[in-house]
Amino acid sequence: MAKLKTTFFCQNCGAQFSKWQGQCTSCKEWNTITEELIQKPEKSDWKSPSSKTSSTSKPLRINDIDTSKEARFDTLDQEFNRVLGGGLVQGSLTLLGGEPGIGKSTLLLQISLKLPFKTLYVSGEESQKQIKMRAERINPNSNNCYVLTETKTQNIFKQIEDLQPDIVVIDSIQTLHSDYIESSAGSISQIKECTTELIKFAKETATPVILIGHITKDGHIAGPKILEHMVDTVLQFEGDRNHVFRILRANKNRFGSTNELGIYEMQGSGLREVDNPSEVLISQKEEELSGHAVAATLEGMRPLLIEVQALVSTAVYGTPQRSATGFNAKRMNMLLAVLEKRAGFRLGAKDVFLNITGGISVDDPAIDLAVVAAILSSNEDESIPSDYCFAAEVGLSGEIRPVQRVEQRILEAEKLGFSTIFVSKFNKIALKNTAIKIQMISKIEDLVSYIV
Ligand code: TYD
Ligand code: MG
Repeated sequence: MAKLKTTFFCQNCGAQFSKWQGQCTSCKEWNTITEELIQKPEKSDWKSPSSKTSSTSKPLRINDIDTSKEARFDTLDQEFNRVLGGGLVQGSLTLLGGEPGIGKSTLLLQISLKLPFKTLYVSGEESQKQIKMRAERINPNSNNCYVLTETKTQNIFKQIEDLQPDIVVIDSIQTLHSDYIESSAGSISQIKECTTELIKFAKETATPVILIGHITKDGHIAGPKILEHMVDTVLQFEGDRNHVFRILRANKNRFGSTNELGIYEMQGSGLREVDNPSEVLISQKEEELSGHAVAATLEGMRPLLIEVQALVSTAVYGTPQRSATGFNAKRMNMLLAVLEKRAGFRLGAKDVFLNITGGISVDDPAIDLAVVAAILSSNEDESIPSDYCFAAEVGLSGEIRPVQRVEQRILEAEKLGFSTIFVSKFNKIALKNTAIKIQMISKIEDLVSYIV
């Protein structure tokens, strides 16, 4: 019998060692190194030996490479298409990561059910019955979606050869195992091997493959970082599980930009695409309330109008409370200090609560001005007209700083019927004849005179 070959992998970062050690010298984590059996894969090919044809690839002049055949599949999900950069590229490998229960399986099953192509949904996590139950809630009529519950890659490839699907979805890469490697499913060497086999399959047959990947508790896709290097696109599905909105973004994309964002709403019958996010993120109210301000932010290429709510009240107990949801608390404290110093508001003895509606967290600095306006409005108990919105960063000395792509924000605010937008005086704006009034301000004191 051939000698079994083993090697040691760090389960955290994927570094490989020839012997066991307590601490990983690469990522400095303790007790993460385990021994894994690796057998030299004699033929780690996705095809069974009988159907094997030896095709070697030849160099081609770049101008001679044929791209005339439609290279992208339209997934019929506009948000998903947008994040991918216009659809699924043939022969591409896409990895979708996200916290447990966020809706990864739901999203991909939903897309599989909608697709007009033959789709194979391979699940190593749920039974066919469970998937059927889920599918019934989402879209009970689908003739093109096939479900397979299998975890061994060789068996999956056998089924793929029989079925000849146009698209393959794997839920999840951590449940797969290959015969060529001895270690258990989910280990570094298995993940690497299974992904390599899938890449080979995808490239040779031009079939797009979408993988679901689990993430570790610090938010990275479980398994070696190399997994993210191997695939073409890495998508991240995120959001607050207690809120209904989910955000899909691309962390890596070989075929498009990583700036795009997809927004979904989780409903009883699956995920709904939110094509006009600004409308749902701004709450409907009958009267104007104090402490509300709308910020014209930008997520990727897409302008997004979101509502900021603040509550300022006299602190009953000694130390005032400060809390922010969806906004960096340190940044809020800084803005409060600026307000105190530059606008003369005595906020030191006040409780301040801040909330971004919809459970979305934004890190666009253009939201600053809306935060300041909401705090001022609540402090004075004066409402801001509901057709005002704000897009500027606030500096430490109370100066209103310009933000990028301000014209796009202005146009979005205009489209949604806002009458006035407050921006920095230092923004260069070439727009003419807009229905919306563009109010240019240069310091926080200017804002005070407009809103309170
Ligand atoms: P799931 O796709 O199983 O998450 P993941 O694969 O990322 O672990 O999503 C599960 C959650 O979605 C579950 O908590 C219930 C919710 N859900 C709905 O609210 N509506 C639905 O129609 C479906 C299918 C799921
Ligand atoms: Mg799942």
